[in-house]
Amino acid sequence: MTIKVEKLDAPLGAEIHGLDIRAISGEDAKALNAALMQHHVIVLRDQKPTDQQLVDFGKSFGDIKKSRFVSPLSGHDQIMVISNIREDGKPLGQLPDGEMWFHIDQIYTPQPCKGAALHAIEIPSEGGDTCFANAVLAFETLPEATKKRLDGLTAQHSFQYGATTTDAKKNDDRPRFSHPLVRRIPETGKRAIAICRLMTDRINELPENESRALIDELCDHVENPRFVYQHKWRIGDILVWDNRCTSHARTDFSESERRLMKRVTIADDLAPIA
Ligand SMILES: [Fe+2]
Repeated sequence: MTIKVEKLDAPLGAEIHGLDIRAISGEDAKALNAALMQHHVIVLRDQKPTDQQLVDFGKSFGDIKKSRFVSPLSGHDQIMVISNIREDGKPLGQLPDGEMWFHIDQIYTPQPCKGAALHAIEIPSEGGDTCFANAVLAFETLPEATKKRLDGLTAQHSFQYGATTTDAKKNDDRPRFSHPLVRRIPETGKRAIAICRLMTDRINELPENESRALIDELCDHVENPRFVYQHKWRIGDILVWDNRCTSHARTDFSESERRLMKRVTIADDLAPIA
């Protein structure tokens, strides 16, 4: 297939035209990876993969991680189901409800994922948008003095899986890990700010008040609308994002409407985050 990459009118992202993910060639995969490296998020419309086809598509970008929970809405152990659909009041998928603050997937683990592909199957009539912040552009636009200040700093991140707000931080058993505050992307040499409002607890080298102030300042900066693309989902959309160059958030939506998304998670096979 001949694919066309059209940059979105946004601070990041590109739409891919002319591709059915059920039949992609090695050349297509190369072009998709190049587009992802350049634009950090790629959007494909009107896709109808089976679960296995979604997994196979994800393999174009790297190894696929197993899901922590296998949902009855899929049954495939490499598909993470994100949904508010319930049976006897119990959610059948993960991250069922409402707003999620900006976060970097798995940043609280030693080796966060490289990215993910998310397929929209059922969506609410309003809300449930996914917002992506360009952490590379956010770094590049910092004043030189701030860039120097960040040099050598590390931040600790934590998260209780399944929680959707910082209420999770009340639980001390949560998994946590520290990473450099600025990371370098091996393929491109670009640098990105690795911080997020939902998961970053503290900057290890600073006293608490300075740490909190810098986290707030950097989160406000990264989340500035001039760095953010807000994706309004259509059924059949697949979004692939580079988790090293972006953070993402979800807008609120009505609990009375069904939302069903399926995700594959791409392992980072290149290097630890440091
Ligand atoms: Fe996420």
